[in-house]
Amino acid sequence: MARKTAEQREAVKKMREIAKSNKAVMKKYETEKKRKNVPASEYQTTMKNPNNILEIDNLHTYFYTDMGIVRSVNGVNIEIPQGKTVALVGESGCGKSVTSLSIMKLVRGPSGQITNGEIRYNRPGGAIDIVKTPIKEMQTIRGNEISMIFQEPMTSLNPVFRIGAQIDEAIKLHRPDVKKDDVKKQTIKMLELVGIARAEGVYSCFPHELSGGMRQRVMIAMSLCCNPKMIIADEPTTALDVTIQAQVLELLRDLKDKIDASILLITHDLGVVAEMADYVVVMYAGRIVEQGTSHEVFLNPKHPYTIGLIKSKPVVNQVVDRLYSIPGSVPNPVHLPNHCYFKDRCDKADGRCNSGIPELRNIDDEHKVACHLYKEGNK
Ligand SMILES: Nc1ncnc2c1ncn2[C@@H]1O[C@H](COP(=O)(O)OP(=O)(O)OP(=O)(O)O)[C@@H](O)[C@H]1O
Ligand code: SF4
Ligand SMILES: [Mg+2]
Repeated sequence: MARKTAEQREAVKKMREIAKSNKAVMKKYETEKKRKNVPASEYQTTMKNPNNILEIDNLHTYFYTDMGIVRSVNGVNIEIPQGKTVALVGESGCGKSVTSLSIMKLVRGPSGQITNGEIRYNRPGGAIDIVKTPIKEMQTIRGNEISMIFQEPMTSLNPVFRIGAQIDEAIKLHRPDVKKDDVKKQTIKMLELVGIARAEGVYSCFPHELSGGMRQRVMIAMSLCCNPKMIIADEPTTALDVTIQAQVLELLRDLKDKIDASILLITHDLGVVAEMADYVVVMYAGRIVEQGTSHEVFLNPKHPYTIGLIKSKPVVNQVVDRLYSIPGSVPNPVHLPNHCYFKDRCDKADGRCNSGIPELRNIDDEHKVACHLYKEGNK
């Protein structure tokens, strides 16, 4: 067998050292998570603004891998006002899903851990910090008060149970106020609410008997059956073809006005954002680079990355030889630079961009940008 070179031996040694140090850190976080009988006073908190349903403050979520620490979410701040839709956009791998999993406290341990920050949730009985909330308490929030619509419904629906039985089960679990005899009636009502015409027929179908669009409607019905205060929709339409995408989005937009819930909508699609969201948060390499009302961000984008994203979106009735794409790629999340993460792709970079990661600054009442080109109050 060929002998290892000195370089290979050094790499193996380094990986072992990383694994050893990861093990100690992960153990510390897991022990903290598994604590029993945590007094409520430890996770009760106060909202900065009582009109918000959720306030994410300086959130850090890391994965401890043998290659090093993956800084997936690296100091994120997001506010979600009650009854509003906030869209989270950004390229693949920028940390959108990890942010949403952090809110649900579903980041897979022991390698994935929330290492810093607060997620304040305006719970009906009083605000709590989700980061410090014990898992047992989180189970009463997930699917009850905060529900999630995933990208691929087939992975969330159980293939061996009929649709009706699965929604019935969710209603029994999350809606103790619904009498046993009324559960089926409520399931049919939810299926009708999401625009399924033959609700009785679909009630007795298995998931594989439905089209992708129908399955996504069923998932939406399931996520709504507990009257959630907040819905997280992570790329709810990417698995669907374009016509069905439009129908499902139309449905979400419709529902938004009917159910008084706040929505965190995660998407690649800026067209969806423009139509549905009240606020937009643009994420790049685990950080927020721009946020504001969707009107302001679309009409007056400031960060060179946001400008690039908008430029790369196709426009109806505009013929172009080639669609614009932002040159280069996202930096390696294990070895992030200590200057602006977008610098190597930015056509506006100058000497100021060589040092320091730009902080998110208010350039207007409801518009924030993290770029050296803009100072506080500087439009
Ligand atoms: N279990 C894991 N172990 C290690 N790294 C992970 C894990 N899950 C996510 N990551 C890393 O975290 C970063 C953010 O991932 P995330 O899934 O949040 O991206 P995203 O913005 O949702 O992308 P997409 O648009 O493709 O869904 C990526 O670099 C990804 O490789
Ligand atoms: S800080 Fe510099 S490199 Fe970063 S986005 Fe702004 S101009 Fe570009
Ligand atoms: Mg994702």
